[in-house]
Amino acid sequence: MTKLRIAIQKSGRLNEDSLEILKNCGISIDNGKDQLKASSRNFPMEVFYLRNGDIPQYLRDGVVDIAIIGENVLIEKGQGIDITEKLGFSKCRVSLAVPKSMKYTSVKDFEGKRIATSYPNTVIAYLKEKGVNADLHIINGSVEIAPNIGLADGICDIVSSGSTLFKNNLKEVEVMLKSEAVLAVSQKITDERKAILTKLQFRIKSVLQARQ
Ligand code: PRP
Ligand code: MG
Repeated sequence: MTKLRIAIQKSGRLNEDSLEILKNCGISIDNGKDQLKASSRNFPMEVFYLRNGDIPQYLRDGVVDIAIIGENVLIEKGQGIDITEKLGFSKCRVSLAVPKSMKYTSVKDFEGKRIATSYPNTVIAYLKEKGVNADLHIINGSVEIAPNIGLADGICDIVSSGSTLFKNNLKEVEVMLKSEAVLAVSQKITDERKAILTKLQFRIKSVLQARQ
């Protein structure tokens, strides 16, 4: 039997919300925590638990058909992937932040500065548009620690509640973009699987409507 292959975040903030919306859609998934792949008992779907940053490549390769993923990840590395639905949860910003003690007037203050981030493409595009040149230091996590250990002058990362910035004595100075969870679709999806996706989309729309 043909199944729709969906990627969701393995662990992290999107994971729970993604499973929740599938559940609300009436899709039950047999879910051993350490299993990286699971099937639904009542819907032709297979779930792959993957790292956020790897999901765009899986979609491009057509190894998975769809994914629930942060729009920000697609903006960073999602060329050639379509978004079919904004899902309204996991809302966040991608922002630039500097130490609280730094006097900050405008984005020009980043000229010649070192910025630590996991979102290099997004930062480069933003700064280029503003005519600012900065050095990027690319790291995969715990970005907010960088200014405190002398690795960078500022950071660019996801801000949700703002508590990570606060705990690390940083202040948000530029909101580069706003993001939320979206349903992304591989351009390689087959017609047969597209038909299953249409059914899923129908259910998702009802769930989102009921949530309003
Ligand atoms: C994410 C993100 C920020 C933080 C934002 O990190 O990278 O650091 O959450 O959320 P907040 O504004 O509510 O504090 P995460 O905890 O996922 O860890 P990681 O960066 O090490 O992957
Ligand atoms: Mg973090």
